Amino acid sequence: MLDSFAPHDTAQTDTRDTAGIPARPLPGFVQRRLDAYQERKRTNWGGRHIMHGRATVADDLVLTSNDYLSLQRHRTILDAEIDALNTHGKGAMMSAIFLQDGTGTQRSLEQRIADDLGAASGVLAQSGWCGNVGLIQSIADERTPVYVDHLGHASLWEGVKSAGAKGVPVHHNDVEHLERQVLRYGPGVIAVDAVYSTTGALCPIADYLAIAEAHDCVLLVDESHSLGTHGPNGEGLVASLGLAHRVDFVTASLAKAYVGRAGLITGRERFTEFFASESMPAIFSSTLLPHDLAGIAAAHKVVRDEPWRRERLHAISKHVRATLLEAGYPLLNGTEQILGLEVGIEADTMHVRDVLEAHGIVGSIFCAPATPAKRSLIRLTLHAGMTATQVERLVATLLKVRTEVRLSEWSSVRRQSRSTRAVEADRTLAA
Ligand SMILES: Cc1ncc(COP(=O)(O)O)c(C=O)c1O
Repeated sequence: MLDSFAPHDTAQTDTRDTAGIPARPLPGFVQRRLDAYQERKRTNWGGRHIMHGRATVADDLVLTSNDYLSLQRHRTILDAEIDALNTHGKGAMMSAIFLQDGTGTQRSLEQRIADDLGAASGVLAQSGWCGNVGLIQSIADERTPVYVDHLGHASLWEGVKSAGAKGVPVHHNDVEHLERQVLRYGPGVIAVDAVYSTTGALCPIADYLAIAEAHDCVLLVDESHSLGTHGPNGEGLVASLGLAHRVDFVTASLAKAYVGRAGLITGRERFTEFFASESMPAIFSSTLLPHDLAGIAAAHKVVRDEPWRRERLHAISKHVRATLLEAGYPLLNGTEQILGLEVGIEADTMHVRDVLEAHGIVGSIFCAPATPAKRSLIRLTLHAGMTATQVERLVATLLKVRTEVRLSEWSSVRRQSRSTRAVEADRTLAA
C-alpha cells in the first residue's frame, strides 16, 4: 500500500521502536547534548519550555512580532505576492548564482532598493542570517580580526566562525574600547547593529565610522531593526545620517519591517556579483522565489509611501519609554521601539512573563544564548498598529504590576542602583 510510505511513518522509524525492534541507542556525544537540554528544562524552567507561555486569546495585547509598521495584512503586499504566485508559480528551484547579472526581476529590485538607500549596489539573500554569515565569510579570512559589539546579533558571530576569522568582542557601544581593540589587533571588519535587538539601543554609527576610516577597517552596519522604521523614507539610519557612501556594508533582515523572508546587503560598486560568487549561502542554498521578490518590492513601496506608520511608531515608543522610565523600569539604555525588560535568571523571567500574560500582555523571553546566562529578559516590541487604548493599557498594566513582578529584585534594577550609589560615593569623595 502506498499509504505505508507516508512521510510521518518514515520519520518515526528514526526514534521509535519499529516492528518490535528497539532503536539503536544514540552515541554518547549526541545523548549528552539531549540530556543537558532536558536538565536545563527541568531545573531552570520547571519542566516547561521557557519560550512557551499560555496560548494567546483574542483580547491579548501581543507584542512579540518584528512587524514594526504593522504590514503583515497590508492588502497591496498580499496582492502582489498572490499575483506573483498566480503568474510565475513557485519559480525556479536553484541557487542565485545562476541569476543573470544585471538583468531579471531580482537584480533590478536589488539595484532599486540600493539606489533608494543611497548605496552603489545591493544584493538579496535568503534571510538576514544568510546575508550576515555570507558577507563576513566572503570578506574576512583567518588573518582578519572581526570586531563585534557584545550585543551584536548572533549571525555576525556565525559569520566570524564561517570565515575562520578572529572574533574580537567589543564592549557594548563603547567607542574607546573599540579603538583600543583595533590598535591591538589591526585592520579588520567592525560589525554592529544600528538598533540593538534586545534593548532598542542606538549604535553611535558616526563614531564607529570615524574609527573604521582612521584605522583602515571596514564597517558593517546591520539595520534589521532600523530599515523601514528610521529615516524620512524608511531608508534606515546609515542613509538618513548621510553616511551611505562611507559605510562599507549595510545588511538587514527583511523579516521585520518589510514582512518578508529575505536579507539585504548594500555596499560598493560591483559587490553583487562578488557576493553571489563567494558567499556559501548564495551558492549552496536556493534562491528567493518570485512571490518573495514581489512581496519585498511591494513592501519597499509601502514603506516609502506611508510615512505615518514610522511617525506613529516613534510617537508610541517615546511615550511608552518615558512613562516606564518614570515608573522605575530600567530600559537598558534603549531609545527605540524594542523594550528590553531584563529580569535576571530564567525562572524569574518566566514568572514575570506569566504575570504579564495573566494581565493580557504578551511579550517574548530572550535568554542564553541570546543574552548572558543570568540576564534573561522579556522583549516587548511596539508597533505602528497599536491603538491609543492599547498603548495606555500596556503602560497602565506595567505600572500596576510592579510589586507582583518583583521589580526591585530584577538584575537590571540592582545594577542600576549599584551604579547610582557608586556615582553618589564618588561625588561625596570629590566634595
Ligand atoms: C540584528 C539582526 N540581524 C539579523 C537577523 C537575522 O534575520 P533573519 O530572521 O532574516 O534570518 C536578525 C533576526 O533576529 C536580527 O535581529
